[in-house]
Formats: sequence, structure tokens, C-alpha cells
Amino acid sequence: MDVDECIKEWEDLIVDYKRLESVNKQYLTKLEEVGELQGACMKELQHQRYRMSIITGTLKRLEKKRVPKDERVSNLEKEIMKRKAMLHEIEATLPKQNSLYLKIILGNVNVSILNKNDKFKYKDEYEKFKLILSAIAFVLAVANLYIDFRPLQLILIFLLVWYYCTLTIRESILKVNGSRIKGWWRLHHFISTVVAGVLLIWPQNEPWNEFRHTFMWFIAYISVVQYMQFRYQSGVLYRLKALGARHNMDITIEGFHSWMWRGLSYLLPFLFGGYVFQLYIAYTLYHLSYHPEATWQIPYLAALFLVLHCCNMYTILKTLHRKTKGGLKLSYKLRAIAYRLSNEFAILDQKWRQNKPENKTE
Ligand code: COA
Repeated sequence: MDVDECIKEWEDLIVDYKRLESVNKQYLTKLEEVGELQGACMKELQHQRYRMSIITGTLKRLEKKRVPKDERVSNLEKEIMKRKAMLHEIEATLPKQNSLYLKIILGNVNVSILNKNDKFKYKDEYEKFKLILSAIAFVLAVANLYIDFRPLQLILIFLLVWYYCTLTIRESILKVNGSRIKGWWRLHHFISTVVAGVLLIWPQNEPWNEFRHTFMWFIAYISVVQYMQFRYQSGVLYRLKALGARHNMDITIEGFHSWMWRGLSYLLPFLFGGYVFQLYIAYTLYHLSYHPEATWQIPYLAALFLVLHCCNMYTILKTLHRKTKGGLKLSYKLRAIAYRLSNEFAILDQKWRQNKPENKTE
């Protein structure tokens, strides 16, 4: 190319640039429109929820006054339930504010995932992340059982600090995106970070040498339990996805229960085993705290393990009670409906796109 050709190329490029500018302008206008539409959706959503709360409040009052419940009331309740599911679905498509913890760590960056498939992928990735890290922890714990090498112990403990810290961030992102993970499980991971941090600064003395093996066995054990949890959680996740894909699936709520929580009874004994192990560790540490060489870390760790044991036991028993008593019935039924409906919407949307006039002319 000579200079003239370069200038000609440049002039051609100016025309292309004008096109890029105009496309970018359109894009910015649409972005602005999206922001406005999101705001309008949020307002309408609040409005729906407010009016629905008045209706449900009135229905409850009527029930308390023992006004006989006729078919109209049952239908209305069903409709309210469906609407709640739909509102939940609509809400999932709108951006959400970060929690305080995420604001502190990440700043005001937007972590809302607005697409259902991406949400599913994120949760799936989170479960796989836990699995991989558990496998590494298992290998390191077993190695530490056979090799007495301080750097290897520190690598494992440091890995635990990083792992639990990362979990707290990922779980906060999941929470922002509509996960119903209970506060305790998140707090559990915060406390576990503290536990691992304290272990990291526990000096290598006689009490540590006495405790080390028990701790490594514990890590190996919970890594195996983590694998079982992974199998269970992935099962639940894929069944939920399948639920959305099976449109005319007519399952009874009882059938839904046993189908949805398949594998839980298999997992439970191992979870309880873990909690008993935590109690045993708390007890061992309590005894070690009377050792002449004991440092301040030991009683603190004993107290933390006791807290973990008690709160884990309490939360799991509460979860089981809810699952068997059916408190979750409604919420899962809502999810079932929501998944089904949102899927139908996706299909309708797809059909609509396929039948769009411009597609027909092509
Ligand atoms: N960690 C992370 N997320 C959890 C969780 C945990 N321990 N327990 C439940 N969740 C999530 C679920 O994935 C679900 O998420 P979603 O809303 O995004 O779908 C949500 O919280 C609600 O779950 P829920 O229906 O209450 O329970 P579940 O059937 O999914 O799981 C248990 C029930 C008992 C299996 C589960 O809570 C568990 O494994 N707990 C034990 C954890 C533990 O003690 N670990 C240490 C072992 S020593």
C-alpha cells in the first residue's frame, strides 16, 4: 500500500466508524431504556406485593374469625400462590443491591445474574468448587497423617482459611441471586474461617502434637461428607432443572417430597457423625487447655467447635422438621410452578421470535 491508498483506506474507515457510532448510540439509548424499565418493574412489583399483602391479611383475619371457607376463597388462595411464584420469577430478572459484606469486599459492582441458566451454572460451579477443594483437603489431610512436616500442615490450614473465606463470598453472591441458603450455614463458614485462622497461629508445641492427628482425621472425614453433600445437592439442582423441563408433570406434593429430597436419608447419618466428631474435638481441646504448655488458642478453639456442634445440630434438626412437617411444601411448590411457568415463557418467547415477520420473510 502506498500513502494514497492508505488515505483512501482511512476515508473508507471513517464511513465504517460513523456506522459504529450510530450503533453505539442506539445501544446506549437501549441501555438507558433498560434502566428505566427495570425501575418501572421494581415499582410495579412492590405495588403487587403491597396489594397482595392486604388481600392475604384480610383472608387470614377472616379465617381467624372462623368465616367458612368456600370455593372462591380456595381459588383465590391458589391464584395468590401462583402470583407469588410469578413475582419471584420476575424479581429474579431484575438487578439487586449487594449485601453489606459484598459491598465491603467487592465495592458496588453488580453481581446480579439475570439469566436463569447462568444462575444455575453459577450454583453448579459453586458446588464443584467445594468438591475440588474438599478433594485437595482430603489428600493433604491424609498426607499429614503419615508425614510429620510442619510446612505441609501449614499448607492445609492456609488452604482452609482461603477456602472458607472464598465460600463466604460465593454464598453472599448466591444469596443476592435468590438462594434460600440459611443464615447459619453462611455464618458457619465465617466461623470456620476464624477457626482455620486460629489454627494457623497455634504454635507448634506439645498440645498441637497431641491434637494434630485428631484434626487431620476430622478434615479427612468432612471431605468425604462434603463429597456426599455434593452428590445430594447436585441431585436437587438437576431435579429442579428437570422440573422446569417437564411441562405437564402432575406430581402430588408427597410424591414431590420424596422425589426432591432423594438421598437425604443416606447423607444424614454422616452429617450427624460429623457433628459428633465436632463435639469430640471440643472435648479434646477442653482437656488440652489444662496442659502446662497450653496457649490461648486452645480454649478459644474448644469454644468455637462447641458452638459449631450445637448450631449445626439445631439447624439440621430444624431443617428436617420443616421438610417433614411440610413447611417447605409451599415454597417448593412455588418454585415448581415458577420453574414451569418461566420455562413456558421461554418457549413462548422462542416461538414468538421464530414467527416474527422478519424471520418469515427470510
Ligand atoms: N451450604 C451451602 N448451601 C446450602 C447448605 C450448606 N450447608 N445447606 C443448604 N444450602 C442451600 C441449598 O442448596 C438451597 O439453595 P438454593 O435456594 O439456591 O436452591 C438452600 O440452601 C435451601 O436448602 P434447604 O432446602 O433448606 O436444604 P437442602 O435440602 O438443600 O440441604 C442439608 C439440606 C441438610 C443436606 C444441607 O443443609 C446440609 O448439607 N447441611 C450440612 C452442612 C454441614 O453441616 N457441613 C459440615 C459437615 S461436618
